[in-house]
Amino acid sequence: MALKTSKNSSAKKTSSAKKSAPAKKAAPARKPTAKAAARKSAKPRSSAVAKKSTDRTRYEDLVSVGPQSLAGKMLRKFWQPIYTAENLKPGRPVRLRILSEDFTLYRGASGAAFVVGARCPHRGLLLSTGRVVNEDLECFYHGWAFNGNGQCVAQPCEPKSFAQKIKIPGYPTREYLGLIFAYFGEGEPPEFPTLDVYESEGFVELREELRPWPVFTQIENSVDETHFNFAHRRSKFDDIGINKDIPVLTCDETEYGLVRRAQRSKGVRTGYLFMPNWSLSSVYEHSKGFAEHLVWRVPVDDNSHISFMADFIYKTGADAEAYKTKRAAALANLATLEPAMSIVEKVIAGEMHCDDVPADRPDIVMLQDAISCVGQGLERQREDDILGASDRVVSLVRRLWTREMRAIAEGKPGKRWRVPKDLQTTRGI
Ligand code: FES
Ligand SMILES: [Fe+2]
Repeated sequence: MALKTSKNSSAKKTSSAKKSAPAKKAAPARKPTAKAAARKSAKPRSSAVAKKSTDRTRYEDLVSVGPQSLAGKMLRKFWQPIYTAENLKPGRPVRLRILSEDFTLYRGASGAAFVVGARCPHRGLLLSTGRVVNEDLECFYHGWAFNGNGQCVAQPCEPKSFAQKIKIPGYPTREYLGLIFAYFGEGEPPEFPTLDVYESEGFVELREELRPWPVFTQIENSVDETHFNFAHRRSKFDDIGINKDIPVLTCDETEYGLVRRAQRSKGVRTGYLFMPNWSLSSVYEHSKGFAEHLVWRVPVDDNSHISFMADFIYKTGADAEAYKTKRAAALANLATLEPAMSIVEKVIAGEMHCDDVPADRPDIVMLQDAISCVGQGLERQREDDILGASDRVVSLVRRLWTREMRAIAEGKPGKRWRVPKDLQTTRGI
């Protein structure tokens, strides 16, 4: 999916720049939110309820993802998926917006994918309009050409080329599980993480969705299993009953991020959050059986992200073919329905209720998550949240992010994260 830069995107860029103030700077006085004002005027409550979160993180610290923001700097220290590999056709460069920056992605004649800057430094043309020549990208306007590292290698109109002095940004890339990854950080990229469980007998099913809410809101939603019982009470989660018992959640920091456990009457569901923005858990649907669910949440800008999902389906041969046929039919049906975000807007506007949406709609879970995430609003301050024991995983994610962001602000190296290849999920039902 090519990400188009819309009018909204440029507006967001401006707001992103505003939000990218250093974390150490004193926070500007904020108007009290309606929620905070209501709390202030309410009678004192029991200490357990009234105790305010100790997560004093300011909301925008966790949502600003531009190159100057702390979260943006942290996210750039990791490999990030940016595109579904089969959608990148040879000879067809595309314009990408990732982490509030624009890039050009193209595939050279050898099949290798390259990511370089968005614009030609000659007179600013978008390089996505250019032509791929062998492994290089030639600008559409006057033919300046750049290799995959961003080095200018040709200036055909110049009688005396000064190409060696011209360089645009170029970024390391990798392909894994059918996704193209890039590293946007400084220096050498970290070791590329892989998982043994994705080498099992079966196949990888990919999806990507552009979601109009902040990446951190999505990450919090992903580690919060108690919402299954409410937001997803009418959904395919019924297939296995994972929305029946309210789970007891526990978690611990690990060498890769955190392990989280959801204890229900029949067992423990274990999942992993890999710092800072991807996760592995087990999912179940009647049609696919138990599957591994690997998801990267990659910011497009402060207020939207792409969820890249790679499910590992344990089916082979005729079983796999039958599943794929059924899945294709479900997706064809989905394409005929009202778009999910159109429904979400109506629900948020009070024009309809989520219970009016058929529970067997193929994207019902995403739609319910969208209502939950968009409905929290963009102006909400996390420090106003009233967190309980069921929010302990959310609290831990906030602490890990803010601790690593603080290290960046203080010029410290931060924790060296390592993803063990042999991690396995437990299903818990
Ligand atoms: S603008 Fe790219 S070569 Fe002139
Ligand atoms: Fe959800």
